[in-house]
Amino acid sequence: MTVHEQFNTLTPIQMAWLQELGIDRRLLQTSFNASDESASRADSAESKVTKYPTPVRNVDEQVARRSAVMPAAPADVKPVQLSPDLAGLQADAAACTRCELHAGRHQAVFGSGHIEAPDWMVIGEAPGDQDDQLGLPFQGPAGQLLQAVFDASGLSSESSFYYTNAVKCRPRGGRVPRKEEMDACLPFLHAQINQVRPRAILVLGWLAAQALLQQKGSIEQLRERTHVYAASYGQVPVIVTYHPAALLLRGRHKAQVWRDMHLARSLKSNGQES
Ligand code: URA
Repeated sequence: MTVHEQFNTLTPIQMAWLQELGIDRRLLQTSFNASDESASRADSAESKVTKYPTPVRNVDEQVARRSAVMPAAPADVKPVQLSPDLAGLQADAAACTRCELHAGRHQAVFGSGHIEAPDWMVIGEAPGDQDDQLGLPFQGPAGQLLQAVFDASGLSSESSFYYTNAVKCRPRGGRVPRKEEMDACLPFLHAQINQVRPRAILVLGWLAAQALLQQKGSIEQLRERTHVYAASYGQVPVIVTYHPAALLLRGRHKAQVWRDMHLARSLKSNGQES
């Protein structure tokens, strides 16, 4: 489905979200036809989508056609012995003292949602205050906004989700996790992906994206393309978008997130997740 066709089938909540962005259907059609910078970025996102053959069930077929990024463990990550099943892995995280974040947590926030091959594993940065209290990710304002984005874009009605974070323990005061903390937690994330076996991964924000993909780059450089994560069970498409906290601070990113959701939905319609 092209961008134009998709906009013609918007639900009232999707339209309400676009109106909240200050973008109505007429303006969107104009901007996607225009030759200004935002239109050409949108067009380039669309051309990346439409050049994928359909249907494609094996992501391998895609790899030669786009820039694939394979994750590698950072050289300075201490080896860790982790349990071979998800419940054991969660217990490992609860007992973990690999970095100083364990000292300030109420509990490790491991993950929640659909645990058997969900359509999407959503990877945030680190638990927030409410998440730390409740032991579940995305319980606060960022999670509410994320849910609104999924609802408005149509992703939630057609997909199952598992939610987790690159770092499982809340940094005190809500500060940004440090590199050594991200590195210490990375083996949990890799093991979690291989246990949950998501069909696709959505990464929120550059910090989590850099950790997962082991690739430097700004959020602008990492967005609007489909990366590939080499899981033990196959190659998994990865989409990167803004962290919802960035959206709460800077509403202008919402239009870009809308495009990222379109790219995410196109993976499903092109059969990569099924
Ligand atoms: N809550 C989470 O679980 N993750 C984030 O990245 C932000 C809030």
